[in-house]
Amino acid sequence: MLALASLSGAADAAWARGGAPFADLALLGGLALDSEAREAARGLIARGREEFLPDDPLSFADDELAALADAPIRPGLNVRSTAAGPIREAAATCARHDAVLEINAHCRQSELCAVGCGEALLRDTDRLARYVAAAAETGTTVSVKVRTEVDGVDLPATARRVADAGADIVHVDAMDSEPVVADVAAAAPEAFVLANNGVRDRTTAWEYLAYGADGVSVGRPSDDPAILRRVARAVDDWDRRAEGPSAPARNDGGVRE
Ligand SMILES: Cc1cc2nc3c(=O)[nH]c(=O)nc-3n(C[C@H](O)[C@H](O)[C@H](O)COP(=O)(O)O)c2cc1C
Repeated sequence: MLALASLSGAADAAWARGGAPFADLALLGGLALDSEAREAARGLIARGREEFLPDDPLSFADDELAALADAPIRPGLNVRSTAAGPIREAAATCARHDAVLEINAHCRQSELCAVGCGEALLRDTDRLARYVAAAAETGTTVSVKVRTEVDGVDLPATARRVADAGADIVHVDAMDSEPVVADVAAAAPEAFVLANNGVRDRTTAWEYLAYGADGVSVGRPSDDPAILRRVARAVDDWDRRAEGPSAPARNDGGVRE
């Protein structure tokens, strides 16, 4: 499985359509949901970063997800929030579109961390687990985006905790610590592990898949068809290898070029 990883301010429905010939899942956003998270996003914009900051985040999400209703790619939405209530509301919106709700426990910008969003959630796993449970109540598929190399954070233990709370997907930005993917997969074997960071070709995709990832995601070059095509082929070839030497090519219903 190949996913397109969120890029704030860029990952909208048009971006997802661009990657649809190659990828299976497009994680739109990140989208700041509540007033404190939105204030933090304003701070990011003030120092030149691109952010989505629509007047009404939920109707923006609804419109962007609706715009993908006929696209050959499953949509998802990466969200930041300082409380569980807005997460539940966004998850309900996602549920209506059969979209994945992804809780952002990943971003490290100081403005976001200061209000308890992004990677700050990795140090507050009780709250993170409450967010996951709130989203899971809606019946939508729940992903948690996490990163490695955060001081004092035991990522496999975090993965176990969010899986217990109802997360279906653990999306791991492995940074320069690729083997952590194996530890996360072992800690939460029932979760779908999506590995991220530096996936650009067969070698980088297969490294994560060999560590036990169920899929990989591409962020920065997610608008580059040559890279997406290469990675999609690598993932398909890996899946065929896993199915055995005589397995036929996967019927992807024409989803990919
Ligand atoms: C400009 C930019 C914006 C990003 N915005 C988000 C975001 O809103 N939410 C999120 O979970 N990750 C965000 N990321 C992280 C990417 O999704 C991805 O995890 C990271 O870039 C590593 O993957 P890559 O090497 O394939 O780019 C962002 C990355 C960049 C470069």
